[in-house]
Amino acid sequence: MKVRVGIVGCGVVGTGVVELLLKNGDTIKKKTGIELVLTRVADRDWQKSRAFQVPYQLRTTDYREVIEQSDVVVELVGGKGFAFELIEETFQKGKPVVTANKHLLAEEGQELFRRAQERGVWIGFEASVGGGIPIIKAIRESLVANQIEAIYGILNGTTNYILTRMLEEGVDFERALGEAQEKGYAEADPSLDIDGWDSAHKITLLSFIAFGGFFRFSQVYVEGIREVDLLDVELGRELGYTLKLLAIAKRRGEELEVRVHPTFLPEEDPLAKVSDVFNAIMVQGDFVGKTMFYGRGAGAHPTASAVVSDLVDTARCLMHPANCRSRLDWQEKNLTLSDDFYSRYYLRFDVPDKPGILASISRVLADHQISIASVLQKEKVCKLAGREGEPVVPLVVLTHKAYERSMRRALEEIRALPVVLGKPVLIRVEEEAE
Ligand SMILES: NC(=O)c1ccc[n+]([C@@H]2O[C@H](COP(=O)([O-])OP(=O)(O)OC[C@H]3O[C@@H](n4cnc5c(N)ncnc54)[C@H](OP(=O)(O)O)[C@@H]3O)[C@@H](O)[C@H]2O)c1
Repeated sequence: MKVRVGIVGCGVVGTGVVELLLKNGDTIKKKTGIELVLTRVADRDWQKSRAFQVPYQLRTTDYREVIEQSDVVVELVGGKGFAFELIEETFQKGKPVVTANKHLLAEEGQELFRRAQERGVWIGFEASVGGGIPIIKAIRESLVANQIEAIYGILNGTTNYILTRMLEEGVDFERALGEAQEKGYAEADPSLDIDGWDSAHKITLLSFIAFGGFFRFSQVYVEGIREVDLLDVELGRELGYTLKLLAIAKRRGEELEVRVHPTFLPEEDPLAKVSDVFNAIMVQGDFVGKTMFYGRGAGAHPTASAVVSDLVDTARCLMHPANCRSRLDWQEKNLTLSDDFYSRYYLRFDVPDKPGILASISRVLADHQISIASVLQKEKVCKLAGREGEPVVPLVVLTHKAYERSMRRALEEIRALPVVLGKPVLIRVEEEAE
């Protein structure tokens, strides 16, 4: 069977998809019997240099030509406004779409899935999470028999690279970010990555398909790595922890916790060992237990691999519409997004080197039903602005599990204690204990 493929947006990923289709098209045909014929590629600028030469006869600047001359349209422009209109216009023609656009799907996914369902067309989005890692298909198909209990993901390569450099080379955040930019791992404006938004888009999308819990993206708790202090990375390591930007979605009864923040993981945890730009996702199902997926989470070639796998699935859908895969708009009606979390905590206080300080801090924690698991007091003197020359030491407290709301109230009180200098540091700890 021949399927005509058109692409709108020929940047990093679009160019990778053109290259893959032209290089591996024959192999795909041998394996599947499906011939993916590239008919048109739209971009607004054909002068800029690309990693692969797109044949002249395929090029256009008119996206409508792509829709007209294809059986399936690949949206690779990114962003929300135009991408939404393009997908909508393609659906109106009764044609399926493949996209890698996590930003759009996290924020408008429910509406787009509903429209796809309504018009009886398919939308593939394997490349939107984890680059080349086949995580969407794994959750929707291979793990379909399970009630999904939790997903933990290192979903952003840039932040993972920065935290790896901080841990392994002892460089501070600014320097590690500069290195990531030099190597082309971070954008000139890296805020989408380092402030956690990219990971949040991806965990939102995974939550939609894993838990059937549609919610507004703005409700997701997001904290990036901009404020991470090398001192905490190092103190955490002394305690046996590795710091990661973790995206978490887990079910507690009828509530769903979805959050992104720097997280300490025990160093023996498989996710703690995922370094540099690699991504990994742990999915826990009630029957399968824990499964883990690992690979390159971005880049032209890995992402193109995921886009083209969606094209093959879409072609199968076009051949046998009745057998087209599971619904996208299923929803667990009673599931609500929780506005409180339950976690262990690493707390660091900068305090004068005097006796009795721990007693006053633990009294406040006890007042809020937060119990201490262990304490680390270093002789290492911290530098604190405005307190030069005064001996200030870090006091680290590890707690047992507690509700975040109680923890925040306790921290406000502790911060007001005259012995606590500067802003306390709070980092959540994920581990199996308790
Ligand atoms: N890069 C990755 O590794 C990666 C991984 C996973 C998912 N994704 C997702 O894949 C999508 C594409 O990412 P990318 O990295 O390939 O982006 P990109 O390099 O910026 O490519 C987007 C291309 O689309 C063009 N474009 C923008 N608006 C257009 C319009 N109205 N008509 C025609 N062309 C238009 C852009 O032109 P201008 O340059 O002139 O704006 C650019 O050439 C995004 O949704 C991204 O989140 C990317």
